Amino acid sequence: MRYRLEAMTEAHRRPVIDLFSHYVRTSFAAYPETPFPYEAFDRFLAMSSGYLAVATTVDGAGEVAGFAFLHPHHPAATFRRTAEVATFLRPLHTRRGLGTLILDRLEKEARPLGADRLLASVSSRNEASLRFHTKHGFVECGRFREIGRKHGVDFDVVWLEKRLVIAGRLFPLNQGFTARVAIKVGKYAEIGSSGATSS
Ligand SMILES: CC(C)(COP(=O)(O)OP(=O)(O)OC[C@H]1O[C@@H](n2cnc3c(N)ncnc32)[C@H](O)[C@@H]1OP(=O)(O)O)[C@@H](O)C(=O)NCCC(=O)NCCS
Repeated sequence: MRYRLEAMTEAHRRPVIDLFSHYVRTSFAAYPETPFPYEAFDRFLAMSSGYLAVATTVDGAGEVAGFAFLHPHHPAATFRRTAEVATFLRPLHTRRGLGTLILDRLEKEARPLGADRLLASVSSRNEASLRFHTKHGFVECGRFREIGRKHGVDFDVVWLEKRLVIAGRLFPLNQGFTARVAIKVGKYAEIGSSGATSS
């Protein structure tokens, strides 16, 4: 399947909020208990201003398959070296290597912005995300025990940290790129990329 990463714009407002609301309703992947209004998209954009907010579309169909953020951990300049990441893919597009491609892109974007530490905040009841981040070199660096309760179920907030070692070239910000994920019997057999993958 071919995907395209593009800078998040007004055109993504509805599908992005709809997707986030899906995880609000059905899981611990999103912390809130009630779906967000479409106006909340403004906050998504503001939060990642100057950093990166991307949407992933399926080539041709124009369907939003997911979205992701790279945003500052804290507004004070003393924390400039630390950014947070978050990715939400539509269920149909999970477990195909797409999250891995997006995280790789976020990591490459982080370094020139001065960030060499990434943080991810994950619910203890989101096993898939904990495994995903751990697989990609994040390590648990803090856990606030049972500080959340969603739909009557307690959960911890787990913070995971990754210290970045950047290798490879960076492709231009906000120009998007296409990624092809070849799927073979439910697993990704090959992750390749084409188009403007490097500058
Ligand atoms: C978490 C998420 C971003 C991961 O992206 P993805 O494209 O599904 O993950 P990938 O296919 O790149 O998987 C890479 C590795 O992560 C781990 N992983 C991903 N999904 C997993 C799952 N459901 N169960 C167990 N491990 C999983 C595996 O180690 C996997 O490697 P493998 O396929 O060789 O076993 C994506 O599944 C998603 O959007 N989930 C729902 C929303 C969410 O939880 N977002 C994170 C909020 S903190």
